[in-house]
Amino acid sequence: MTALLRADGIRKAYGGVQALGGVTVEVAEGTVAGLIGPNGSGKTTLFNVITGYERPDAGRVFLGGTEITNARPGTVFAAGIGRTFQLTRIFARLTVEENMLVAGRRKRGHDRRRARELLEFVGLERHAGLPAGSLSYGQRKLLELGYVLVADPAVVLLDEPAGGVNPTLVTHIADRIRQLNANGTTFLIVEHNMEFVMGLCSTITVLASGEVTASGPPDVIRSDRRVLDAYLGADLEEDPDTDADGPGAPDGGGGDGETGDAADGS
Ligand SMILES: Nc1ncnc2c1ncn2[C@@H]1O[C@H](COP(=O)(O)OP(=O)(O)OP(=O)(O)O)[C@@H](O)[C@H]1O
Ligand SMILES: [Mg+2]
Repeated sequence: MTALLRADGIRKAYGGVQALGGVTVEVAEGTVAGLIGPNGSGKTTLFNVITGYERPDAGRVFLGGTEITNARPGTVFAAGIGRTFQLTRIFARLTVEENMLVAGRRKRGHDRRRARELLEFVGLERHAGLPAGSLSYGQRKLLELGYVLVADPAVVLLDEPAGGVNPTLVTHIADRIRQLNANGTTFLIVEHNMEFVMGLCSTITVLASGEVTASGPPDVIRSDRRVLDAYLGADLEEDPDTDADGPGAPDGGGGDGETGDAADGS
């Protein structure tokens, strides 16, 4: 498979701190890829470089065959790379629906209908008229996902989509990602929740101190000695339940209830 997204030899330093020391990450079209590593290992910095929020000191970024290195965030977004933030960036005083309309402001006409469809998809339709600031942490992450989807991105970068989110909502978010992926969206996901990552991703890249220390399928990463030592710790070794089939609860019994959970979750 061809790489839809490729960050090649990315270097980035902040003053004396080397955040990225020559990182190469490839995401194959149609896959869900993971990016893991300890706090401060450079994950968000890599997202910032890919999406134009930071300029790399060296290295290049490609979307398909097109180089997008140093393109502005708006250009990267329009080119097909959507991105959510570790700390969500929603407009707290606008309503949930208004947030969606802001995202679609360049696509008049379809705006309202598409916004409604996507709010339904992420499970926030009942909150459409409420200020976004009234949403729970997990719901804000879902709103941001909906916001990004307005642009019909080919690739979506998610920075800790499950971080600080209640378990029911985490399951809902994983389910939405699976459904989008089944419909062709490619993902690169940064997340500390290993069950979430191992269950969703077919390939995982491990960063440590701004360098790639391992990359491969979840089974390989799970048993990589350097990864265990550097990052994962003992919990995965002791937990045989985190198998490659992942945590994906079957849809059965969920249905609308699951959507309700999303809407009610805190
Ligand atoms: N704007 C900045 N100015 C100065 N240093 C920065 C900046 N952004 C990141 N860094 C530094 O770069 C390194 C990588 O940070 P980054 O946020 O990319 O890590 P991370 O892997 O996303 O961590 P976490 O898991 O905690 O989110 C850290 O040492 C961080 O302090
Ligand atoms: Mg980060």
